[in-house]
Amino acid sequence: HNYIFIMAGGVGSRFWPQSRQACPKQFIDIMGVGKSLLQLTYERFLKIAPEKNIYIVTNNEYKDLILEHLPNIDTANILCEPSRNNTAPCIAYAAFKMMKLDPSARMVVAPSDHFILNEQQFVRDIKESLEVVAQRDILLTLGITPTRPDTGYGYINYEYTPGSKICKVLRFTEKPVHETAVAFLEEGNYVWNAGIFIWNVSTILQAFKTYAKDVYDIFNEGLPYYNTPEEQQFINTHYGNSPKISIDYAIMEKADNVSTMPVDFGWSDLGTWASLYHVLEKKDNNNVISEGEHQLMETADCIIRLPKDKMAVIRGLSDYIVVDTENVLLIYPKSLEQEIKKIAEQLKDNQ
Ligand code: GDD
Ligand code: MG
Repeated sequence: HNYIFIMAGGVGSRFWPQSRQACPKQFIDIMGVGKSLLQLTYERFLKIAPEKNIYIVTNNEYKDLILEHLPNIDTANILCEPSRNNTAPCIAYAAFKMMKLDPSARMVVAPSDHFILNEQQFVRDIKESLEVVAQRDILLTLGITPTRPDTGYGYINYEYTPGSKICKVLRFTEKPVHETAVAFLEEGNYVWNAGIFIWNVSTILQAFKTYAKDVYDIFNEGLPYYNTPEEQQFINTHYGNSPKISIDYAIMEKADNVSTMPVDFGWSDLGTWASLYHVLEKKDNNNVISEGEHQLMETADCIIRLPKDKMAVIRGLSDYIVVDTENVLLIYPKSLEQEIKKIAEQLKDNQ
């Protein structure tokens, strides 16, 4: 009864110029290990559920890329969305389809673009969380100990319960402004939302019905069509009518049955170049550099990405991102990297 849904429909614009709309972060070998983040994610979940229970939810546009990266996947396990409406409709679609297939199913909903250092611990934690939701109608999310007032995450204020691994969530705040994030960290009893959710199909559908009725109604209409030849036709016609909203704003901030399981398996959401810098091995002067030949002088704390056949000579640069791709060269201070998302969007990926 355990099913995994890997969400792989995002664009990852903060990783521009390596991540593009045509080939987002999850399809890139961003770690430099010979496998894309999607392949690494899929392999991790194979340790938890059989192939037939692992689904990918993505945009129509990426179906071929999914098949290229996961050549053995059954096409019936790829859910294709016709438009970008964020994660709430993506999850509603998956849950309704599941409801029809197996109403007692438990779901893990996970991003496709995270880094996890300790796989064994990850597998243990997910298995344990599945056992927990088998007993309780809660919306469970994994919590990460925060290390800085990052405004890119959901902040979870939890009730500390000595001796229990599962903590009741008092308040969920998605992407707070900087001052609020600082105040949360000072206050204590906060974890970041890892974006990995575990729940029963019936529990999440009830939450949609209560807190996001507009989304619920659209996908409820499709019940006669899921898992039939008419499913894609229904989705293509109706999916785009859903509000564009993430699960965090639509459900997690509102529901009163949210719990968190604080975990520690070496997590990074690899949201930005600096977060990648933090998890990769540092060479001389704390530089991270992969591929390409290079001569670095008085250069420190940089992350440098070069094409295989490119040589770089750099002097006097510190704390910078240098990314050279076929048609774009980015040289940007790490401290201002949040701006990269806007730049990528303004360029509308024409570069
Ligand atoms: N299928 C599909 N369709 N997938 C999508 C869509 C969509 O429209 N939009 C995003 N995704 C996928 C992304 O590819 C990613 O794997 C995952 O859903 C999460 O989306 P992000 O856009 O990366 O969300 P975020 O990082 O801003 O915020 C979420 O993750 C944080 C942790 O990394 C939230 O859940 C935060 O609360 C959380 O802290
Ligand atoms: Mg993300």
